[in-house]
Amino acid sequence: MPKKEPIKILTVDDNEALRYSLRRSLQGGGYEVIEARNGAEALAMAEDGPALITLDINLPDMDGFEICRKLKANPKTSHIPVLHISATYVKAEHRIRGLEAADGYLAEPISRDELLATVGALLRLKQAERDAKSHAAEAEIARQELKQAHDELEARVAQRTRELAESNGQILELTGKLFKLQDEERRRIARELHDSTGQMLTAMKMNLDRMSRQVKQPDQKALITETIAINDDLTRQLRTMSYLLHPPLLDEIGLPSAIHWYTEGFSERSGIKVDVKVGSDVGRLPNDMEIAIFRFVQEALTNIHRHSGSPTAEIRIARKGERIEAEVVDAGKGIAAEKLRGDQVVQGIGMMGIQERVRQVGGTVAVKSSDRGTSITATLPLIPAVQ
Ligand SMILES: Nc1ncnc2c1ncn2[C@@H]1O[C@H](COP(=O)(O)OP(=O)(O)O)[C@@H](O)[C@H]1O
Ligand SMILES: [Mg+2]
Repeated sequence: MPKKEPIKILTVDDNEALRYSLRRSLQGGGYEVIEARNGAEALAMAEDGPALITLDINLPDMDGFEICRKLKANPKTSHIPVLHISATYVKAEHRIRGLEAADGYLAEPISRDELLATVGALLRLKQAERDAKSHAAEAEIARQELKQAHDELEARVAQRTRELAESNGQILELTGKLFKLQDEERRRIARELHDSTGQMLTAMKMNLDRMSRQVKQPDQKALITETIAINDDLTRQLRTMSYLLHPPLLDEIGLPSAIHWYTEGFSERSGIKVDVKVGSDVGRLPNDMEIAIFRFVQEALTNIHRHSGSPTAEIRIARKGERIEAEVVDAGKGIAAEKLRGDQVVQGIGMMGIQERVRQVGGTVAVKSSDRGTSITATLPLIPAVQ
């Protein structure tokens, strides 16, 4: 173990005998002592870094009060505790004056124990001060590092958020284009089925009717009648398919009629009783909004048929101030909890597609579900300019 360096004390006194006695006492306490006889020597030796200075007041070149002020004014020595020791300045007023700059004041006669106790106390005080300062400095460094890390993180989060917002915007734009393309494509196919294929079936039926009138053999007649029935069935199916792809009523006489037409067919096919109420003040809406609401109702009803087990469904479309609210309610078993996050369905292409479609026209979809049924509401803002 390395030997511990003795603590160095600078003793300043012009009186040889007093200096000697101080040195003996301090050395007795285990301190190393260096000595100065006047102010100039004291100021020079103080820069050697003693742990403490005992400072006489009455000195030949300058008084101890002044030396102390100079020591405290010099950044190299200001931290060294100064203990005034005087044989001549012993009154209270001297102590008061001395303690304006110094850290301690003892007046002769001083016992060895008192001296060592005072020196020890001052050194402990300084040590505690140093410890506190270094702790404060460490804490400050840690605080700065933390702040820097925090700032960096904030900047990164802000950057990521910007990037995310940007790519979200792109996805939204792309989705919007895809919906538009899908609608146009469906409309085109619907028209094609109705106009071209539908017309051919009609022509075929006219021919079959003519053949039926001309043919006399009963078995051939029966065959033609059966073929006409197949043709009728095909025509009906084709029309339904075409209407489902793109309800022509939606463009012509608007949403309420299209919804009534759709729900009638749906009820017939599914056996689910559907009650429709559309507010008389709903009126015509922008085309993409009518399509969004129609698809919303279509998907919600299909889901009721496929998943809910409900015997009934209600459709409510109403104007609420500057908004249109479309709600589809069933009395079925409800949506499984793991498919819901808050009021959003987070699984399934159908519902997510609908939520997105409604978002594209500035609206929101909210889902409420329990074991007594499900209600899905789309809220769409009416933009004054296109009303
Ligand atoms: N009205 C409803 N009642 C009960 N469950 C429903 C209802 N609507 C949707 N769900 C549940 O939410 C899931 C997601 O719906 P959706 O996105 O339309 O997908 P899917 O293609 O399965 O119909 C469904 O699979 C079903 O489990
Ligand atoms: Mg579905």
